Amino acid sequence: MSYETLIVETHGRVGLITLNRPQALNALCDQLTSELDAALTAFDADPNIGCMVLTGSAKAFAAGADIKEMQSRQFPATYLDEFLNWGAIAKKRKPIVAAVAGYALGGGCEIAMMCDVIIAADNAKFGQPEIKLGVTPGAGGTQRLTRLVGRAKAMDLCLTGRMMDAAEAERAGLVSRVVPAAELLTVALDVAATIAAMPLAAVLAVKECVKRVDEVSLEEGLLFERRAFHSMFATADQKEGMAAFAEKRAAQFQNR
Ligand code: HXC
Repeated sequence: MSYETLIVETHGRVGLITLNRPQALNALCDQLTSELDAALTAFDADPNIGCMVLTGSAKAFAAGADIKEMQSRQFPATYLDEFLNWGAIAKKRKPIVAAVAGYALGGGCEIAMMCDVIIAADNAKFGQPEIKLGVTPGAGGTQRLTRLVGRAKAMDLCLTGRMMDAAEAERAGLVSRVVPAAELLTVALDVAATIAAMPLAAVLAVKECVKRVDEVSLEEGLLFERRAFHSMFATADQKEGMAAFAEKRAAQFQNR
């Protein structure tokens, strides 16, 4: 499939998606978000892919939803059309590593938060500036952000619309690592390749378990985790992983 707003490549078992509307700082127009969902869905279904990387340009991961595209929209059409419902992007089963350089604002920050590991370049800037446009965040800026960084910082960011730099984002727990901008893609691809080399069933189960944290009580989450753990004993890769440890050799996973 060919895309107009994305560049899609594979690096071994890693699927790399680059947002590519540089003239608009990767503003998330309808075409871009539907192409993004299609590209992620295709990699998610591809047995040769174990992990995905989502990135933007050196200046912008994404500067938010496309303001010019939405400025003249009215209610109730926004409601009736379920305008900007990006929920499907957050429902992929394989892990997604976001490699964020430059601006990740509004919907850009929200898409990054739908990913599973965020690696930030040292020039990254995160924010939810929607309030300055007379709207609220609409795809996780008040919900995922609050879960990820806590209420104090989420309130600050959403109410003032200010940007948070990469160091603050790392301190706040939003990003996993901060790296020099020139190394961003190399590090992100390396992290993704490491994940893609792991046994796929365990990878999918870990992602499912961690994401349950947002949905259930500790007891339910622990039960979910324990059942996932038990189910791994049905996989060939559990036998191989543990045999390789006992035999002091590298494991050869079959990803099943
Ligand atoms: C449409 C955008 C855009 C956006 C930038 N551009 N952000 N177009 N929607 N979100 C366009 C500009 O209009 C400009 O086009 C070009 O990209 C370069 O941007 P500049 O503003 O000239 O660049 P700069 O001066 O470097 O400033 C960068 C910036 C600024 C600070 C990131 O562009 C900015 O504040 N952008 C808007 C950020 C924002 O408010 N995001 C939240 C959107 S609402 P031209 O044609 O003039 O060259 C949102 C809601 C999500 O995301 C809801 C989800 C359900």
